[in-house]
Amino acid sequence: MNILVTGGTGFIGSHTIVELYEAGMDVLNIDNLCNSEAFINENVDAITGNKQIFICEDITNEEALRKIFSSHSIDAVIHFAAFKSVNESVEKPLEYYRNNIGATITLLNVMKSFNVYLLVFSSSCTVYGQPDHLPVTEDSPIKDAATPYGYTKQVCEQVIADFAEANPNFRSIILRYFNPVGAHKSGTIGELPRGVPNNLGPYITQTAAGILPLLNIFGNDYETPDGTCIRDFIHVSDLAGAHVAALKKLISKKSDLQVSFYNIGTGKGNTVLEVVKAFEKATSVKVNYKITGRREGDIEKIWANVDRAEKELNWKAKYSLEDAMLHAWLWEKKIRNI
Ligand code: NAD
Ligand code: WQD
Repeated sequence: MNILVTGGTGFIGSHTIVELYEAGMDVLNIDNLCNSEAFINENVDAITGNKQIFICEDITNEEALRKIFSSHSIDAVIHFAAFKSVNESVEKPLEYYRNNIGATITLLNVMKSFNVYLLVFSSSCTVYGQPDHLPVTEDSPIKDAATPYGYTKQVCEQVIADFAEANPNFRSIILRYFNPVGAHKSGTIGELPRGVPNNLGPYITQTAAGILPLLNIFGNDYETPDGTCIRDFIHVSDLAGAHVAALKKLISKKSDLQVSFYNIGTGKGNTVLEVVKAFEKATSVKVNYKITGRREGDIEKIWANVDRAEKELNWKAKYSLEDAMLHAWLWEKKIRNI
């Protein structure tokens, strides 16, 4: 099977390419490196012992995409490529709409021309906002998006559903990721945020490495056991494995549904303080932190009901939070030469 991966040099894409090779699939990776570095591809190839085909291209460029589809055999697509900063999306909404929604439309259009009808799409738990009931199931209502980024995921889900309606041969699995953390267990690939990170995982590792002076924990007055927010933190390699499971399901043609949605998390919520403690326990390195005020827009708590993915994709997260913290630390040490 030849799998086209868009955004395959990024955090989740690179880990997914490792899993795809482990499952015996071949990879064509298209990434314009707008939020990643080419050396990650080399490190992925070193882990897998394979040479992925890499094309540095912007997938909003329809002509270029057509050329790629006409010169490669493609059985299915995993579409990661997107901008992902919630804050930046508020400042640059048009860029986010063009890159996240525009690219998805362009990709579907080209897939249709070349009769490539299997797609795995990266969505996000952000579509649920603050759910009314926890753990959140796939049938929970979609809440008004708080940011343009969140809205792009909702729109793309709808675009894919409408495209499916009009194209009976098309099949898609939409994965709603919870909070990916960690790095490959070898410590040779991981998250590479540009500038000061927004997300908790790299903020912790960079603070532990002394690059950042202090981790601000945003609020300890939430209605949670220790007052800090709760998320469902999933090891990125587990998340990557869910894409292989999704592809296998699409390829087996076992589902009657043209488009199906799956929560991809651990099924367990952890507080922000628990994540810090897990890091300290796994690495024996202290994290300098202080409690500050709430961050605007943060939801209080969310974690996934993952029954559907377990049952229908035959997939389940295996790594612990401590594993994730240890692997993220191995990666941080590697890139900082610590
Ligand atoms: P990332 O930024 O690390 O990876 C995205 C990759 O896509 C980057 O390598 C970037 O260079 C590339 N890219 C972006 N626009 C492109 C374009 N027009 N053409 C070609 N390449 C392009 O992000 P990630 O964390 O790996 O996220 C992957 C996907 O998962 C995204 O769609 C993101 O919205 C979604 N997601 C991420 C998270 C998270 O917390 N990381 C959570 C939920 C959903
Ligand atoms: C997690 C928790 C913070 C940093 C975002 C997007 C979401 C999805 C995943 C893409 C929160 C706390 C964080 C820090 C802290 N991405 N925190 N100090 O906000 O759950 O989700 O990434 O789809 O759409 O919104 O992730 O890692 O930013 O925060 O206390 O320096 O850690 O308040 O409770 P979040 P996060």
